[in-house]
Amino acid sequence: PSLEKDFLPVYYGWFLSKKSSEHLRKTGQAFLDELGNLKAFKKESKYFLPDEDPKIKLDLTGHFAKRPPGVLHCTTKFTDFGKALGADEYAQQEVVKASYGKAFTLTISALFLTTKTVGARLELSEQELLLWPGDVDKILPIDNLPKGSRAHITLGCANGIEPVQTGIDLLEFVKLEKAGNKV
Ligand code: 2AM
Repeated sequence: PSLEKDFLPVYYGWFLSKKSSEHLRKTGQAFLDELGNLKAFKKESKYFLPDEDPKIKLDLTGHFAKRPPGVLHCTTKFTDFGKALGADEYAQQEVVKASYGKAFTLTISALFLTTKTVGARLELSEQELLLWPGDVDKILPIDNLPKGSRAHITLGCANGIEPVQTGIDLLEFVKLEKAGNKV
């Protein structure tokens, strides 16, 4: 019997360097500040802060008060100590085991926000896609989206929202894109 499966982590992922993490946090703040000041965005403010005076600056930074602790990361597989669906299958892959502690370069293709979450969308390389689980790029079982569609870094969540929501929000955007909608 292997002991290994009893000791899976909460999640696997790419963790940013301290410098990149600080830089991305700042970029995320600037993104929210600029949006909050933008006239065109003010008409959305009712979705964020229903009682807000539309003439004053929209405090998006305050809205996304829950920020990830420590260095920012992109979750590859949420294994929940091995309890999550597909956890063992993911952890047992040779490519996963061979990649512990290796360094990768992540590419950010967009910053996005909904009323619930704000995050950075990633565009994964071929090599990174090898580490991407096959079962996470869908909300509904019938969804058929490109591998890596969910890849993101959570920058903040509104009160009462769990970080898992950021990936779901991104998948909704990808579905809209696929349907030919302007996001
Ligand atoms: P995130 O990757 O969108 O930020 C620890 O909670 C990490 O695991 C967080 O980074 C979180 O979201 C991610 N996470 C939590 N629950 C999850 C789930 N059910 N599915 C996928 N990722 C999850």
